[in-house]
Formats: sequence, structure tokens, C-alpha cells
Amino acid sequence: MAHSMGFIALLSLLSFAPLCFSGNTLGGGHLYPQFYDHSCPKAQEIVRYFVVEAVAEDPRMAASLLRLHFHDCFVKGCDASVLLDSSATIRSEKGSNPNRNSARGFEVIDGIKAAIEEECPHTVSCADILALAARDSVVLTGGPYWDVPLGRRDSKGASLRGSNNNIPGPNSKFQTILTKFKLQGLNIVDLVTLSGSHTIGNAQCTNFRQRLYNQSGNGKPDYTLNKSYAARLRARCPTSGSDQNLFYLDFVSPVKFDNNYFKNLLAYKGLLSSDQVLFTKNDVSRELVKKYAYNQELFFEQFTKSIIKMGNISSLTGYKGEIRKNCRKVNAY
Ligand code: HEM
Repeated sequence: MAHSMGFIALLSLLSFAPLCFSGNTLGGGHLYPQFYDHSCPKAQEIVRYFVVEAVAEDPRMAASLLRLHFHDCFVKGCDASVLLDSSATIRSEKGSNPNRNSARGFEVIDGIKAAIEEECPHTVSCADILALAARDSVVLTGGPYWDVPLGRRDSKGASLRGSNNNIPGPNSKFQTILTKFKLQGLNIVDLVTLSGSHTIGNAQCTNFRQRLYNQSGNGKPDYTLNKSYAARLRARCPTSGSDQNLFYLDFVSPVKFDNNYFKNLLAYKGLLSSDQVLFTKNDVSRELVKKYAYNQELFFEQFTKSIIKMGNISSLTGYKGEIRKNCRKVNAY
């Protein structure tokens, strides 16, 4: 009896990590939070240190880092493809419609990578750094903590086309957005929950101007946009020019990770059309928006599940891909 108990204990210890943390999806490998516990025990501490510094200097950086993880995962999986610069063989995803003049935080990731390379060379992937920086950004702004499954590896290529096609646009229809999430193995709950990331950060005038003046080609503003809120937005987002003027995605508490994003949607004060449609175009998502607006705990709890799921999208693991030395370029051999 004692003998067989010991055997079972050993078995479960050996298989602990893969069994507990393999997560979903789409060919994703066995990620688990303890992946660097022996090979680079200070990795998480270093990431946190740099994220704290960066956010202290620029509070918006938390939002920008969270978004980078999303834009990474939706293109070929979470493999740091978003970080690669253009080169003879690579057309950088940084030039895609969603990323151009918009994605930011690359220098912060460079700083983290350099410090981690000094501590434990050629060990920690850029994709894992992105996932950890996203988690730390959420925690720092008041959101929930989760243990980040780790062990992703970095791609040897990028996909400009994937970046253009897979990431929904701010004026995409509800069904289009949902389809793009489903193609990544994510469902309607994940869509509504992860959109709650827009509780922090900014958007440029150019991404919601259409709603203010001519939503459906009839020269009228979006009727699902609160009128006084629309007037406030028009003041700094004219019919032309000022494209890059910034607005808070959640004007009530712009640098705090909370459930005000969902409360705003109930009041027809979502900034992007892609935000407001979650409340106006589908019964299931509308119910979820209401639930989260009334219950922040529920939002937080589901957020950790959905972001872990997103972080598992077809990760390169094992011997696939590589551990880049510099997040901006593939290793030279
Ligand atoms: C559901 C479809 C989504 C659409 C259409 C969308 C679109 C956008 C757009 C247009 C912006 C503003 C960019 C700019 O003006 O420069 C933005 C910002 C942002 N997005 Fe999304 N997004 C979506 C989902 C997500 C998800 C799933 C996450 C995170 C998991 C996320 C995180 C963010 C954050 C944090 C910002 C602010 C970034 C900053 O201030 O630098 N978004 N998004």
C-alpha cells in the first residue's frame, strides 16, 4: 500500500507540470509557471522591476504592454513574432494596420531582454517576457494576478499578412470580431472578457472618428453613442486632421484596471465601435457585459482564465522555434 502510494506520488510529481498547465489549444505545448524556476529563477523579478519602472515613468505603458501580448498571440500564436524588425527575410508586423503608428512598448521589452540575457543567457524567450509583462501590467494597474504558464519559444519569422487579417479592427462588425476570436480557439466569453482590457489605455481619433460623424454612410453619428459623450469627443476629434489625438478607452478610470469599461458600455459610452457592439449587437455578449458591470470579481476571475487561454495559442515549445538573443531579430547561425 505504502509502496503504491509512493509510486503514485512520484508519478503525479513527475507529470505535475504538464498535466496541470497544458491549458488548451491549437497545438499549444506544455506551458507551466515553474518553467524557469531552476534555469532562471530571477526572470520574473526582472520583468516586474522593468515594468514597474516603465509604468512609473509613463502610466500608459501598462496598457501598451498588455496590447502587445494580444497582438503577438493572434498572429502565428504567442511567439514574439510581433517584436521582429524588418530585415532581408522579414517583413515586420510592426507595419501592419493595427500596429503601425500604434503598437508601443518595444523599448521596454528590449530593456527587459537585455537584463535577463545578462542574468541567464539564452534561456528566457521573448514570447514569455511579453506574457509576463502583460500580467505585471494588469496587476500594477489594479487588476487580478495570475500565474503565467511559461515555456514558449520565439518564432524565426513574422507574418505581416496575419497581423493585418487576424486582429479585428475598431470598426469591424460584431460577427467579424467574434469569428476572428473563434479562429484563434477563443469563444464569445473570451471576447467580451478580454475586451475588458480596454479599461486601460488610449485610442487615437482616427480609430473612432467614423462613429462621430458618419457611422453608416448617412452623414449621422453612431446612434449607439451617447450624445453628450459624442459631443465631447468631437471637440478634439474633428472631421479631418488631429488623427493622432489620444482619448481614454475608459474615460472614468483610464489608468485603473477595473470594470468601468463595462459600466461605460451600459451607458452607451464605449469609445470604439468594437467596444459598443458587445452591448448592442448580440444577446449573449450583452448579458456578459451586464454581469461584469455589476460584478467586478466575476470579470477578474474570468479575465485570468481567458488571458491564460489566449497565452496558450499555438505556442512553439520544446525544440520548435528558438530563444532569441535580441527580441528584434532572429538568431544568426
Ligand atoms: C476585440 C477586438 C479588439 C479591437 C477591435 C481592438 C482595437 C483596439 C484599438 C483600435 C486600439 C487603439 C489603438 C490606437 O489608437 O493606437 C486598442 C487599444 C488597446 N487595446 Fe484593443 N482591441 C481589441 C481587443 C483587445 C484585446 C483582446 C486586448 C488585450 C488582451 C486589447 C488591449 C488593448 C489595450 C490595452 C489598448 C490600449 C493600448 C495603449 O494605450 O497603448 N485589445 N485596441
